[in-house]
Amino acid sequence: MTAEGSLQAGAATGAATVPQPVAAPLTGAAIFCILEVRPGAESLAPVRALCGDLAALLRGVGFRAADTGLSCVMGLSSGLWDRLAAGGPRPAGLHPFRELLAGGRHAPATAGDLLFHIRSARMDLCFELATQIITRLGGAVAPVDEVHGFRYFDERDLIGFVDGTENPTGQDAIDATVIGPEDPPFAGGSYVIVQKYLHDLGRWNALPVEEQERIVGRTKLTNIELEDDVKPSYAHNALTSLTDEDGHDIDIVRDNMPFGRPSDGEFGTYFIGYARSPEPIEQMLENMFIGLPPGNYDRLLDVSRAVTGVLFFVPSAGVLESLAVPPPEGAAQAADGDGAGQPAAPGGSGGSLGIGSLRGETDHE
Ligand code: HEM
Repeated sequence: MTAEGSLQAGAATGAATVPQPVAAPLTGAAIFCILEVRPGAESLAPVRALCGDLAALLRGVGFRAADTGLSCVMGLSSGLWDRLAAGGPRPAGLHPFRELLAGGRHAPATAGDLLFHIRSARMDLCFELATQIITRLGGAVAPVDEVHGFRYFDERDLIGFVDGTENPTGQDAIDATVIGPEDPPFAGGSYVIVQKYLHDLGRWNALPVEEQERIVGRTKLTNIELEDDVKPSYAHNALTSLTDEDGHDIDIVRDNMPFGRPSDGEFGTYFIGYARSPEPIEQMLENMFIGLPPGNYDRLLDVSRAVTGVLFFVPSAGVLESLAVPPPEGAAQAADGDGAGQPAAPGGSGGSLGIGSLRGETDHE
């Protein structure tokens, strides 16, 4: 599906279901920016304005270097959704990130109302768009975490393995990430979970390569999946492979990025996973942290520590734009107070961004 195609289809339906570019191709650079929205109704006004303006900002920055594939996905936390939607409909799967704790392994739930996942072939474009976004939001937000990721050679992560191979592509990526008829008011939306991992590379590199390969489930140099008779049940790719009752793969789309500061001994992987429901990603996390069966956990976690964890809803481009319009006053006040407001209808306006989606290119694949 192309964004243009769905925009044309949307000419009749209001284009509310055009997705944000969740399944955009892997890029050379990315910024993962998480912000908190300060309390009070006055903080919501710049956020609403940005929901309506993000596409224009993206055009303004991206047009100057159209070949760099600049794109931006904007995600909203469960708490922020309730403030913006003021008692209106809410996405079926939206809830705060669920913390996991087992055997000393910890997937913490951390703060964050807004996620901006900015991708481009070039970091300067990502940086410029992030700056424009922050300028628009001004004092309404407080920074929580900002990570600048880079593509490492051979698409490897900092533990030295090629990362991203089994990602679905094309229509499969859209099918895995974009909400369909299962939640009609939010069709075209997505869910995203982010976690920032820090690696103990000294400990990892002290392991024999064969042991590392059993932990990941693939060969290190040649990136070939281990045969079933040698792959342990605790291998990362065994614990994160899910199938439905008919034996079909349940996919998610990942765009992990290395980051770090060698002089500080910081070496990390920023995990980002998109799916049409949070469930598969949550199941993978349970398999990794608790184990399948419990205790048969992911040995990557012996050398990797999750220091953040947040779940966001990614509205379709049309629903995002519709959030620019505040709900009736009584409803908004109640939502910022006791939450007992009149129903508003985010997405109900079926607003179209007019450019197809929040991206610098037209094809979604
Ligand atoms: C420490 C952080 C992580 C690192 C370094 C890492 C690295 C890798 C590597 C090297 C692969 C094999 C190549 C590939 O198919 O991409 C892989 C596969 C995969 N990872 Fe991770 N990963 C991390 C965290 C996660 C998390 C938190 C999840 C989900 C909650 C996840 C889900 C997956 C999935 C679904 C696959 C593909 C499995 C398959 O079908 O073969 N990963 N990861």
